[in-house]
Amino acid sequence: MLGVCYYPEHWHEDRWPVDARRMRELGISFVRIGEFAWSRLEPARDAFDFGWLDRAMDVLTGAGLQVVLGTPTATPPKWLVDECPDILPYGRDGRPRGFGSRRHYTFSSQTYWRESARIVEHLARRYGDHDGLVGWQTDNEYGCHDTTQSFGPEDLKAFRNWLRLRYQSIDQLNEAWGNVFWSMELSGFEDVTLPILTVTEPSPAARLDFWRFHSEQIARYDRMQCDIIRKHSKGRWITHNFMGFTLDFDHFQVADNLDLASWDSYPIGFVEKFPFTEEERNRWAQTSHPDIAAFHHDLYRAVGRGRFWVMEQQPGPVNWAPWNPVPKPGMVRLWTLEALAHGAEVVSYFRWRQAPFAQEQMHAGLNLPGLDEWSPGGREARQVAEDLVRLGSLPETGPASVAIIFDYQSHWTTSVQPQGADFRYAELCFRWYEALRRLGLDVDFVRPGASLDAYRLVVLPLATEVGEDLRAALEATKATVLIGARSGSRDRHFRLPAELPPGPLSALTGNRVIQVSTLRPGLSHGVRGVVEGAAIRWREDVEAAGEVLARFEDGEPALTRKQDIFYLACWPDEMLLQAVMSLLAKEAGLSVMPVPEHVRLRRRGDLIFAFNYGPGDWTLPQGVEPILGERVLKPQAVALWRRSSD
Ligand code: GAL
Repeated sequence: MLGVCYYPEHWHEDRWPVDARRMRELGISFVRIGEFAWSRLEPARDAFDFGWLDRAMDVLTGAGLQVVLGTPTATPPKWLVDECPDILPYGRDGRPRGFGSRRHYTFSSQTYWRESARIVEHLARRYGDHDGLVGWQTDNEYGCHDTTQSFGPEDLKAFRNWLRLRYQSIDQLNEAWGNVFWSMELSGFEDVTLPILTVTEPSPAARLDFWRFHSEQIARYDRMQCDIIRKHSKGRWITHNFMGFTLDFDHFQVADNLDLASWDSYPIGFVEKFPFTEEERNRWAQTSHPDIAAFHHDLYRAVGRGRFWVMEQQPGPVNWAPWNPVPKPGMVRLWTLEALAHGAEVVSYFRWRQAPFAQEQMHAGLNLPGLDEWSPGGREARQVAEDLVRLGSLPETGPASVAIIFDYQSHWTTSVQPQGADFRYAELCFRWYEALRRLGLDVDFVRPGASLDAYRLVVLPLATEVGEDLRAALEATKATVLIGARSGSRDRHFRLPAELPPGPLSALTGNRVIQVSTLRPGLSHGVRGVVEGAAIRWREDVEAAGEVLARFEDGEPALTRKQDIFYLACWPDEMLLQAVMSLLAKEAGLSVMPVPEHVRLRRRGDLIFAFNYGPGDWTLPQGVEPILGERVLKPQAVALWRRSSD
């Protein structure tokens, strides 16, 4: 269940057999290689050098490792950029983003599609049926370094073509975008411009379409790679390594191409990237917040239709966050076991050995820089390998009883028009997830429109556009449902619905949203009723036909209920959110097991895992006898026991 990311091209060949042997000694079975190696595979056009990769594959697989091969398209080499500058991406300032790091290409470039297809075809033909090859990774971290969208001439060309297909006539586009406003009307598709460098806000409908266009383009680019690989590499799976808190393309759509999802888990790095309070950032600086990794494990399990890997696991301090503390002792082990508890098939560390050169020289590996000597993270990985031997094979991961419907497009629409500066979709979903997990519940994520049959409780933090399939799934489910504010507030073309929000959910909720207030930091509206707390950031004035369970201090409905459909007309503060989730869990007949803020539980088959992020101890429930760990769970420790004994 363990793997590692390795760069044979970074080390002298004499070292490869030693590295391979030590990987096996550590308990590693899988090794990912190749994803940035284009300049070594093709130093000049058509002058291929596969000799070194042939030898590396043979050394690794000869030692008993199974190889995951990455396609090298995240790093087009210098000669290619010089020959074909039209592959470069453009920034929001309208200027090209050049060679010298990585991801310097735009998905809109036809040239780059051709060049990618060419190198992928060569690799797939050469290694597709290599005995030691188990699977492929396409590219590396789509969207990383803000590369989902690009704003150059190739993008404009491709966007116009996409719009032509979608709208057929410019009149339909003008109508859909509402271009009569501010005299934005266009006389042909050639008039369409990029949604940047305008005096003030460009058309929100145009921006949303630009976002959709890029998202679809990534999925198509990925499919192109997958089609080529599948032709030459029968029986091998394909994945892509997605990122944390990257919502600017639809991952469900990309994963439709893949056999399984994978993601890159840097729990401490994300503490800086996520909009935590300063107090939270300091508290979780050396462990990460207890829901950061878990949230993504659960999300990517859904993206991968039940199958996921952690392709890159933080093994120590990283280099790329504003501050990069060393994880507390025990955390590398805890994160690894936690990923497995959430259903990961494999956890693969990034990277084998710290590189004493180039951009990531301050990024830890399992080995110290340049040496054959375990780093503190490497020693913890060894301990995990020992744990896994003791545990034997882990049971299958079953469905949870709670589902969160997760909608990438709602991130795009609320970024295009936030209305309140701190309205952040990722944060909203994260806080709802956190509140459910504080009740000791396991959570699945679900794609909008997918069946909800398996669940007792379904929560929809927000879907700005509610498609017919999502509406039908919500209507059909027997689960207790919680719908969040702002849902159904836009149609396909970014217009307010004629019947007012929640638009297609009006009949189901019994509500009509008459007006909305966004509240600056420090302002809140108290809520009283069967749940108590306050609205922050966003609150609605709702006309409710159903039951009103709680009201804002001015008497307007805050939480409503029509049969089993609950509607929360605000962004709740922590107290209100926790109270609402407890109420809903009770309504759904779920048995909860509240845990303190530093402890989390997760079931896998008949096993229950407990994770203590610290700093306090936690005592396991009465009568439980752990098969790993102690009854008094120390900070950064893990325990697990069998469900029958709980
Ligand atoms: C990931 C990336 C790796 C490496 C790593 C450092 O985003 O896929 O190549 O850069 O971060 O943490």
